[in-house]
Amino acid sequence: MSTKFEETTDLIGYLTVFDEIGLGTGQVRTLLDYGCGPGTVTARAAEVGDAEIFAVDGEERLLDVARREHAHPRVTYHLLGDAGLAFLPDDSVDAAMSCSVFVSGADPAEVRADVAEIHRVLRPGARYAVLDTNPDADGVRLATFQACLDVFSEAGFTDLRVREPLLDALPDESTRPPFLIVSGAK
Ligand SMILES: C[S@@+](CC[C@H](N)C(=O)[O-])C[C@H]1O[C@@H](n2cnc3c(N)ncnc32)[C@H](O)[C@@H]1O
Repeated sequence: MSTKFEETTDLIGYLTVFDEIGLGTGQVRTLLDYGCGPGTVTARAAEVGDAEIFAVDGEERLLDVARREHAHPRVTYHLLGDAGLAFLPDDSVDAAMSCSVFVSGADPAEVRADVAEIHRVLRPGARYAVLDTNPDADGVRLATFQACLDVFSEAGFTDLRVREPLLDALPDESTRPPFLIVSGAK
């Protein structure tokens, strides 16, 4: 049985990310899940849309879990190494997302390089969305949040949008948005 946290994360976290990038609209035939971890969000994305999903992570151990627990005919899991996303050509992917990846403590130079690489593989017009804990909900302003907006612009993303979805059915989440979702278009 899923917990309240998992249900909330799915309802206003993941589904808002999918909405931001256009998953399930027929426009997203290929999706990059950057920082897929054990494949939880990847699996939800495979259910919601009909895209071919390239799920990547820097941790082989977590990819093993994803391959074991969230194998899917439209999902391939890839280990990120020094070559970055070299297996993906320029301008080839219809959408990208990173959920709970660029958290406090991430090296800004590394985030900048990652976002530039994600921008490279997206086709013109494609959207990239980042989900993180909302600093206004947990009282901790993520060191990387402003950097995230700056890095999006520096990488060439335009039409930047910030969403802070609320969930009316729950007392806390109806007034304090638990997530912050930043997205931009190539
Ligand atoms: C908290 S998990 C989130 C996993 C998944 N996106 C989700 O929401 O369930 C964070 C993941 O990001 C990955 N990660 C962190 N920094 C990364 C980076 N610079 N490049 C690729 N993966 C990264 C970690 O290895 C980890 O699997």
